[in-house]
Amino acid sequence: MKKSVKDTSFLFFLLLLLAFLLSITANDILNTTHILRDGDTLVSSEGTFALGFFSPGNSDNRYVGIWYNKIPVFTVVWVANREIPLKNTSGVLKVIEPGLLVLFDNTGNIIWSTKASRSSQIPVAQLLDSGNLVVKDSDDDRPENYLWQSFEYPTDTYLPGMKFGWNFVTGKETNFSSWKTDENPAPGDYEFRVDPNGYPQLLIIRKGTIVQHRVGPWNGVRFSGTPNPGPDPSYRFGLFMNKNEVYFWENPISRSLISRYRLSPNGLGQRWTWVDKNQDWISYSSIPLDNCDTYKLCGAYGSCDVGNSPVCGCLSRFVPRDPEDWSKGCIRRDPLNCQKGDIFLKYSGIKMPDTRKSWFNKSMTLEECKLACLRNCSCTAYTNLDIRRGGSGCLLWFGDLIDIRRLYVEDQVIYIRMAASELDGEERRGVILIWSLSASMGIIVLLGLSWILHIRKTKKKKRKLKNGERYIELHNEELELPSFDFSTISKATNNFAIDNKLGEGGFGPVYKGILEDGQEVAVKRLSKTSEQGIDEFKNEVVCISKLQHRNLVKLLGCCIEKEKKMLVYEYMPNKSLDFILFDETKSRLLDWPKRFNIINGIARGLMYLHQDSRMRIIHRDLKASNILLDADMNPRISDFGMARSFGGDETGAKTRRIVGTYGYMSPEYVLGGAFSIKSDVYSFGVLVLEIVSGKRNWGFSHSDHHLNLLGHVNVLSYEKLLTLIFVEIMSS
Ligand SMILES: *[C@@H]1O[C@H](CO)[C@@H](O)[C@H](O)[C@H]1NC(C)=O
Ligand SMILES: *[C@@H]1O[C@H](CO)[C@@H](O)[C@H](O)[C@H]1NC(C)=O
Ligand SMILES: *[C@@H]1O[C@H](CO)[C@@H](O)[C@H](O)[C@H]1NC(C)=O
Ligand SMILES: *[C@@H]1O[C@H](CO)[C@@H](O)[C@H](O)[C@H]1NC(C)=O
Ligand SMILES: *[C@@H]1O[C@H](CO)[C@@H](O)[C@H](O)[C@H]1NC(C)=O
Repeated sequence: MKKSVKDTSFLFFLLLLLAFLLSITANDILNTTHILRDGDTLVSSEGTFALGFFSPGNSDNRYVGIWYNKIPVFTVVWVANREIPLKNTSGVLKVIEPGLLVLFDNTGNIIWSTKASRSSQIPVAQLLDSGNLVVKDSDDDRPENYLWQSFEYPTDTYLPGMKFGWNFVTGKETNFSSWKTDENPAPGDYEFRVDPNGYPQLLIIRKGTIVQHRVGPWNGVRFSGTPNPGPDPSYRFGLFMNKNEVYFWENPISRSLISRYRLSPNGLGQRWTWVDKNQDWISYSSIPLDNCDTYKLCGAYGSCDVGNSPVCGCLSRFVPRDPEDWSKGCIRRDPLNCQKGDIFLKYSGIKMPDTRKSWFNKSMTLEECKLACLRNCSCTAYTNLDIRRGGSGCLLWFGDLIDIRRLYVEDQVIYIRMAASELDGEERRGVILIWSLSASMGIIVLLGLSWILHIRKTKKKKRKLKNGERYIELHNEELELPSFDFSTISKATNNFAIDNKLGEGGFGPVYKGILEDGQEVAVKRLSKTSEQGIDEFKNEVVCISKLQHRNLVKLLGCCIEKEKKMLVYEYMPNKSLDFILFDETKSRLLDWPKRFNIINGIARGLMYLHQDSRMRIIHRDLKASNILLDADMNPRISDFGMARSFGGDETGAKTRRIVGTYGYMSPEYVLGGAFSIKSDVYSFGVLVLEIVSGKRNWGFSHSDHHLNLLGHVNVLSYEKLLTLIFVEIMSS
């Protein structure tokens, strides 16, 4: 008897469980009877996204929105009633006939509603696993038949799968607008849109009309303003274009990748990727990246380079219109003369100018493109539309070329219209005799140079055959690095005289040298005994020969002969930072503006290593003695012996060999061997504290406690502190 009671209750329990499971599986759909009240959520089939009511930040207002359901950081990606909040928790979301999704308040007023393109027999609303909320016929899943979808009405967040751009058939534009503040999702000052004028481009616009930033035209590989090229293995993206539509698209390659693009209330467009290991969002790229992303900062024909001060300059062969006011841009040295015939000169390593006044044709060749530009006197430049497979298509610019910045990517060439007289440049202005004299001298010099190069090349080949593996290994890295003869270096350093020794670097002594032409250099020699040094030497060569930034030390060349291995750098007259910073008398030279400039420069160099360079590089040994100072006290990061490079989506790794310098290494690295760009950021933080305080982190002592400098300032967490500093730098 007892047993059967148990059985039935067990059965009952099973039934309940089944009902519960059923209700869960049907939980991604609202219909005319299943409505959503405040407190309930609708969860997509695989549980990635949830739809429900929320209050942003400390606000009491209630909004209907979609957020990530599986990650612990509450992140809203879409808001329904962004302009009209509910004042309390009595709102309800309902599907009503003939096919609308409507939000009512407690008195039955409509707060927000979808639009219906047609009516439906049995309308339902479903939250898809992509984060798209759709209104559709209950038995029709075809996207082209949706009555409405949130992907067509995004708020401030782009999710993979959205089409961001224009449908020319319906005239509908899909764009993004920032929230007003982090607590108010109403449309704020900034919009992110695809501008269809000329060759379409992505723009960030302020207050509806003012262009703030430009991502640059799509060239088949990347948007021309984004400095970080190369295929990113984690997602594919591009600009799709035909006569009916133009849109930005993106598809993750791995479905497990959680990535979004958000326009923040202060107009920053950032890609965020969820990193499980950190349990946090990591920002991968951003527009604006720096000051040079400010639209038209340097005016027409001006070129912005964050490595310069001031950042503005002119494209070569142009001169400033008003050196006091860069926003007026630059002008040609010689005016164009379309009738007499102009020429085109090649420029590369720059962001393609604003294409709102441009024309394009996908099937024209570069030669046809040139002719088309030549024929029309208002055409100022041309380029290939698509740079893949040797280049195809044609893009023409009309009028002044604006919003150009220096990029360290040389894959796209633009041909700019110039006066024919520019072909022979300055010399034309001189006396013809001198001109011809210098030209013939030039030819002699060229001949001489090519002869020297030829000799060098053959020498190199011979050496390659004679020498050991190491050289060949290095050679395989396809380095384009000048090489110095051992005799040259030996002479320059006075045969490595002890008087010329500057100090000890990561893998050997460093000497000062003077080349025959008078150039001062620093020569870093690999000590013969150092086995480990060979790896570090190689690492340094590979890393730094591919990097170029004004806050990184510049490698002039190397010298590899038998067992002798040397690197030749620019000489830094002010030695390393520790030399000055921790010296009581010398440190007086470092006033606050200089210190700020040094911090700023290191941050720029680091940002270049971490996100703007071709390879993502983690330095791993950032410290005061590895920061060199040039004649103007600008910092240069040096010593890449321990650096590691990573692919586009990797941010860290683990190692068993802990290298680095105590006091600068992050706890997770010292304790677990996990290193990432954050390890460098930690070291940077220590460095900043040292620069500000003038005291060594290691060796700091205070009468009250036994903590080191870092322990002493542990008021703010280091990440917070760094965020503050970065924000400060970005906005300065
Ligand atoms: C609405 O959905 C619920 C389950 O979520 C279902 O029980 C009900 O029959 C549906 N109503 C209509 C009108 O389709
Ligand atoms: C919500 O606010 C309205 C007035 O705005 C009020 O009539 C209603 O009772 C409130 N409901 C709740 C649950 O507080
Ligand atoms: C963004 O798109 C909406 C809807 O198509 C449109 O009304 C608005 O004007 C667009 N924004 C801009 C800056 O064009
Ligand atoms: C583009 O160029 C091709 C080849 O020159 C030409 O046949 C075609 O008509 C052009 N299209 C437009 C829209 O001008
Ligand atoms: C040159 O191009 C501009 C812009 O497309 C156009 O308005 C103008 O008519 C063209 N001029 C000639 C002579 O083709």
